[in-house]
Amino acid sequence: KTLGAARCAVITLSDRASRGDYVDESGLVLVKGLQALGGEVVSNEILADGIEPLVAQLRTLAADGVRLCLCTGGTGLGPRDLTPEALQALGGRAVPGLAQMLRGLSAQHTPLAWLSRAEVVQLDGLLVIALPGSPRAAAQCMNILTPVLGHALAMMD
Ligand code: MTE
Repeated sequence: KTLGAARCAVITLSDRASRGDYVDESGLVLVKGLQALGGEVVSNEILADGIEPLVAQLRTLAADGVRLCLCTGGTGLGPRDLTPEALQALGGRAVPGLAQMLRGLSAQHTPLAWLSRAEVVQLDGLLVIALPGSPRAAAQCMNILTPVLGHALAMMD
């Protein structure tokens, strides 16, 4: 399988989902997608929007040997959409091509794809990929990433 039992994690960024105002679906879409590729999902959390909680969780995942973290939500233009800023604050290496691929291929589904500021960052052995928040976007982006995830992780060994 593509991900060869790699340790994976999912983080949903949403003030409302973290308060329990609605049940998060996007995180589950990503968990199932990673498992279908053979990934071992060791963490699936819902965090409030904001820089500090996400940075702290990503550092914890890196220290725990997680190889791939998919984030969903907080990439748009709203005042509380701060996922890209959190990824920049990590201090890793940007992987702009993957973010470009996500936007470009997502635009085949909706021109609103260009509104996502999603980023991809490599923090030592951990690849962090930010995705838009809707379940539909999460599913579409999972499909877009599928052909390249295995090779991406293999290069990082
Ligand atoms: N990308 C895909 N593949 N499918 C989508 O439906 N929705 C867009 C965009 N990217 C979408 C998508 C919309 S409507 C927005 S506002 C931005 O992602 C940002 O979403 P976020 O703020 O939930 O992260």
